Amino acid sequence: MKIIDTHTHIYDEKFQLDFDTVMKNIKEQMEGIISVGFDLESSRKSIELAHKYPFVYAVVGVHPVDIKKYNDNTEKELEKLALTEKKIVAIGEIGLDYHWMEDPKEIQKDGFRKQMKLAQKVNLPVVIHTREALEDTLNVLSEFPSVGGILHCYPGSFQAVKPFLERYYIGVGGTVTFKNNRKTKELVHALSLDKIVLETDCPYLTPVPFRGKRNEPVYTKYIAEEIARIKEIPVEKVIEKTTQNAKKIYRL
Ligand code: NI
Repeated sequence: MKIIDTHTHIYDEKFQLDFDTVMKNIKEQMEGIISVGFDLESSRKSIELAHKYPFVYAVVGVHPVDIKKYNDNTEKELEKLALTEKKIVAIGEIGLDYHWMEDPKEIQKDGFRKQMKLAQKVNLPVVIHTREALEDTLNVLSEFPSVGGILHCYPGSFQAVKPFLERYYIGVGGTVTFKNNRKTKELVHALSLDKIVLETDCPYLTPVPFRGKRNEPVYTKYIAEEIARIKEIPVEKVIEKTTQNAKKIYRL
């Protein structure tokens, strides 16, 4: 079995120069990738790519940092897309970001709740972004007990997320390979492999040994290798299980 990268921004301009090579490598080495939007435009780009490449799937939504772009028209358009485009596999990335704090907390929460409702309505899972806002994020998730999905780049402890693991998977990315990142290594150690999916968040968060350079989906193998080391299991097992998990949550 091959790897699925559950979180990419493959439409980013950092891929412009060698896009064909990047896609060729994915096609040869991987099972598939998910292209995640952060606003309507990047969501549409993700759908276009999903039409063009059989191994690409799309996630559509408005990121908390861009939440001022979210209005009734955006919502209608996202709903229409979610109901008509077969390769849309989730609503995201949505959530709360108190690090950049582009908009007040209440505005962010409002946009987040509206998109959680939308996911419920169109019966899709969600991809959650949370930064320096864990408690509020988990509180909103609690309000929607019928919605599940992936906590992307989850920054908290195992204890905090434990009550959510019945419905949510944890996206583990390149930061787990950073030598001093004890927190994420401990989280991976505590989590059952049944609850982990692999993600790059490329072009960001590049794993060792390419840290500092541009990230790309094929680098997920370094994340799988690190998880295998932490859990003291064969890397093949990590790949097999995380790919099964990705297929299950995105219903691929
Ligand atoms: Ni992302």
